[in-house]
Amino acid sequence: MRIKGILLAGGHGTRLWPMTKLVSKQMLNVYDKPMIFYPLSTLMLAGVKDICIVTQDENIKLYERFLGTGAALGLNLTYQSQNEPTGLPDAINLTKDFIGKSSVILALGDNIFYGRDFEEQLKSGVESLNNNTASILIHKVRDPSKFGVAKIVNNKVVELIEKPKKFVSNYAITGLYFLPNDCVDYSSKLKPSERGELEITDLLDCYLNNDRLIDIKTGRGTYWTDCGTVSSLNDASNFVKAIQDSQGLVICAPEELAIYKSFI
Ligand code: TTP
Repeated sequence: MRIKGILLAGGHGTRLWPMTKLVSKQMLNVYDKPMIFYPLSTLMLAGVKDICIVTQDENIKLYERFLGTGAALGLNLTYQSQNEPTGLPDAINLTKDFIGKSSVILALGDNIFYGRDFEEQLKSGVESLNNNTASILIHKVRDPSKFGVAKIVNNKVVELIEKPKKFVSNYAITGLYFLPNDCVDYSSKLKPSERGELEITDLLDCYLNNDRLIDIKTGRGTYWTDCGTVSSLNDASNFVKAIQDSQGLVICAPEELAIYKSFI
């Protein structure tokens, strides 16, 4: 079964102003490389070659100049404009022609994953798609109140709650979603929330309510962060520096992944 990737690089990035008044958030550096390399590496590690980058009109030219068609990495990159952050499922609506009959891995442009077991977790996500089931990666965090959170009962997700005011669980829903092809139909029927966006939790609820959503726990050996705030962006840079300095490796390098995955 064919799987296509959607890399979300739109949004206003208000929490990173004034930097994101000047450039798109995903162009900012996380230590030694542009942020977009990290979600791009995630999609590549999952084995995805056809990737649509969703961003504002004004940024398409810049990303295109930087990454081109992706041919040098063995990828097929396309670009879709989304001028306002109308929500993650709306990016699915905008890319429905690109998606066609494929399944989808939707990756938020400011999320970074790293760890020994991460490739296995990606394989589990791909396997769920082969079974026509959606999956989410959930990660234990100290302060879940600022994330979408998964309520777990008997080791199974029973409810998804956006930024819960009361404690539900420590499991944050990360920005990587494995979605069967019918995410296109579900997304087209969603209504905007009070904040005027199509919400990813509403889309995931469609799968949860039909017993078609599984969770993949990242475990303690995996690092995950978004880079949405000055503090988390700085933490991510420090993490990448620490790993690279100690091991002498460059992590999340698309060129290396292209060779590792035999894309080139
Ligand atoms: P957010 O961090 O929720 O939003 P943002 O990037 O606009 O930042 P802020 O809250 O500080 O204003 O978005 C998460 C990621 O998803 C980020 O990489 C931008 C991307 N995104 C889109 O591409 N389109 C959208 O409609 C939304 C909501 C987010």
